Amino acid sequence: MKTVLVTGGCGFIGSHFIRCLLREESWRVVNLDKLTYAGDLDRLSDLAGEPRYRLVQGDIADAKLVEEVVVTERPWAIVNFAAESHVDRSILDPTPFLRTNVQGVHVLLDVARRYGVERFLQISTDEVYGDTDGLEPRSEEDPLRPGSPYAASKAAADLLCLAYRRTYGLPVLIARSSNNYGPYQHPEKLIPLVIRNLLVGEEVPVYGDGGQRRDWLFVEDNCRALLLLLEQGAVGAIYNIATGVRVRNLQLVQSICTVLARELDTDPAGFFDRIRFTPDRPGHDREYAVRTDRIAHTLGWRPEVELEEGLRRTVRWYLSNRDWLVKRADEEYRAYYEAVYRRKWELV
Ligand code: NAD
Ligand code: DAU
Repeated sequence: MKTVLVTGGCGFIGSHFIRCLLREESWRVVNLDKLTYAGDLDRLSDLAGEPRYRLVQGDIADAKLVEEVVVTERPWAIVNFAAESHVDRSILDPTPFLRTNVQGVHVLLDVARRYGVERFLQISTDEVYGDTDGLEPRSEEDPLRPGSPYAASKAAADLLCLAYRRTYGLPVLIARSSNNYGPYQHPEKLIPLVIRNLLVGEEVPVYGDGGQRRDWLFVEDNCRALLLLLEQGAVGAIYNIATGVRVRNLQLVQSICTVLARELDTDPAGFFDRIRFTPDRPGHDREYAVRTDRIAHTLGWRPEVELEEGLRRTVRWYLSNRDWLVKRADEEYRAYYEAVYRRKWELV
């Protein structure tokens, strides 16, 4: 049995990935998570009593702690999901993004190097290529032109990973995924935000003209790709992961209205009426588009869940888990929401 140190495993994607790993008897998981506002133990509550799972609460930027965990657990691999992940929060205050997404990654890389970890999978993002509006979809070797403080911090981490590969021979792999969605995503992100606002009777904010395009990837498809990379990916390689289908934000929001209305057996017109165009995200990238030939041709990965089906599953999950949405829309969330939506991007 091989041990994997998963960081940020109490987050949205990390928790799905841990469940995906533990479905195979050959893996044991140690989850190092700081439990920031974005971390939630509920996401893995079904693992209570699972002997192949251990949670350590702590910070990836805490070098002493990370070393202790690696010395004790001797993981075969580290898969790093831990990050400040929300672009809008990085606009309000980039500081924690630099600490976790850059310094934290450096701590992990350094400990991995010193203790001979055999795989280091860095979970990156398609946002590192920057806005692709008017450009061809990006390939893995294209230059990085991050637009937001979040994307810049993730690009810095990618470059550090590649430097550790070249300088010290660390067996690094980088995954650059597009927008994930699915159960248990925090309501700060677009899809759960729209579902929540429709359910509680609030307006639905669409930034700018709503013409920005994103490639929506069902979280389980992403986790299947990440597991393939861990098991069979080429060391030193970068892999884009996306569906290749890009949808305008306004169209996506309208689709959510339609799916939710159908599930509730109500007229979608009432939901459409709640859509409001709001002041744009500063520096908002119009589009992210990536090529996925590498993962398709070398590892045979393809997405399985189409957007309509993924939205249906997601909406159904939130309808059956309204308590979780209420819990996540806590005081901290409301203060954040006020700053972005009511005080229009008030900076700290
Ligand atoms: P998330 O915000 O839901 O979860 C992040 C997790 O990391 C939380 O559990 C949090 O407690 C933990 N964390 C934060 N700082 C930490 C620290 N210093 N030490 C230890 N743990 C810490 O994030 P997500 O949406 O699941 O994204 C996971 C990763 O995937 C991130 O690296 C993100 O950049 C990347 N990514 C996300 C998406 C997406 O659409 N959500 C797409 C592409 C890439
Ligand atoms: O592309 C991958 C990235 O996708 C990940 O690296 C990030 O961690 C993840 O948060 C996500 O970033 P986005 O900024 O694309 O996701 P978000 O859900 O915040 O926004 C999706 C789009 O919707 C974006 O164009 C902004 C827009 N939007 C978002 C919110 C929250 C709105 O129009 N209104 C909103 O209220």
